[in-house]
Amino acid sequence: MTTEIDEIGYWSEIKLEILEKYAKPYNQILLKNQFHPSYIDGFAGAGHHKAKGSSRLIEGSPTRALGVDPPFERFFFVDSDADRVSRLKRIAGNRPNVHVYQGDCNDVLVDGIFPRISYARRERALCILDPYGLQLNWETIRAAGNSKAIEIFLNFPVMDNESKCALAQVRARF
Ligand SMILES: C[S@@+](CC[C@H](N)C(=O)[O-])C[C@H]1O[C@@H](n2cnc3c(N)ncnc32)[C@H](O)[C@@H]1O
Repeated sequence: MTTEIDEIGYWSEIKLEILEKYAKPYNQILLKNQFHPSYIDGFAGAGHHKAKGSSRLIEGSPTRALGVDPPFERFFFVDSDADRVSRLKRIAGNRPNVHVYQGDCNDVLVDGIFPRISYARRERALCILDPYGLQLNWETIRAAGNSKAIEIFLNFPVMDNESKCALAQVRARF
């Protein structure tokens, strides 16, 4: 468990801005066409970060998702860290449409959350997958694809040693 929120660089702030800019028209288009948009965050984090080298507080992906206008109808946040999950629950407050889970998102998403997005009921979801390194299983991505209702926004770190291994594994498989 960690009690600290992460320090992030400017590249992570750009990622968060891209996410917000994408989510707004995603919801506009879906709602206009009578779909029901949900937001899923597999590696949700604590909800806030600190800017590297300063004390400036930055809203993280789940907090930004809650502020998107027009809004998502449902929110599903997952993190493996108990302290971060407690922070997320405080941010969610008493909103009945925000669901926070603690656990390995590979299990929670595939067994608990993805099945709640029904293609037939015109439910769709934007699923953010933002691991530090190699925590994401390819089976989880496959499950999202198989649903035909969930699109993923994968932030794939390419500059650390773990990710070089990940790239090597991808090349080995395909
Ligand atoms: C890069 S941070 C997420 C940042 C967040 N997406 C944002 O932009 O505000 C990665 C998070 O994944 C969590 N984590 C690591 N392994 C995990 C796993 N297997 N399942 C769920 N969460 C995990 C960590 O505790 C950490 O909070």
